[in-house]
Amino acid sequence: MITWDELEKYCSACTKCPLAETRHNVVIGKGNRNADIMLVGEGPGYHEDMEGVPFVGAAGQLLDKMLASIGLGLDEVYIANIVKCRPPQNRDPLPEEREACMDYLRCQYLLIRPKILVCLGRIAAQALIDPDFRITRQRGQWFGKKGCYMTATYHPSALLRDTSKKREAWEDLKEIRKKYDELRDNTNEQ
Ligand code: URA
Ligand code: SF4
Repeated sequence: MITWDELEKYCSACTKCPLAETRHNVVIGKGNRNADIMLVGEGPGYHEDMEGVPFVGAAGQLLDKMLASIGLGLDEVYIANIVKCRPPQNRDPLPEEREACMDYLRCQYLLIRPKILVCLGRIAAQALIDPDFRITRQRGQWFGKKGCYMTATYHPSALLRDTSKKREAWEDLKEIRKKYDELRDNTNEQ
């Protein structure tokens, strides 16, 4: 099992896929490494690539608000992406790029061991829950995999493009809060 320091070292020097050629910074993750909730987005955008930190642009500001609306801050969650380097023009990461990068996310998951994993958008849900995942139809449902509750909701960028999706996203957020509280109650009873 590798350490956070080793993971950071490998990621920062990674050239396993062509995204390495155009990135400014590798974007590993942010938040609490002992969090019970891990959120996974798609990949860095312009601002994330420039700063080396996930979700700092417009989508990130909305994500902060979404989390705050259910009483969660960065002290209670950890946030990462499917790919750690920015795809040019923010295109979808290609299958080979996602596969090349997946080992790093797997390591992060194993180091954090979250109780809840939230996929933000289709790309994360298809990579982590089901390759045929349909976000409009399957968002908000729970999928149990190896002791971790997994779910998906709309990506904040999708909510910025189509505000009519916000009502459903709010339902998903409330479910996530509920599950989080349930799991904490169980822990306290043990
Ligand atoms: N969108 C993502 O999927 N990830 C980020 O880090 C920023 C925007
Ligand atoms: Fe390496 Fe992932 Fe960046 Fe590709 S996206 S170069 S696999 S860190």
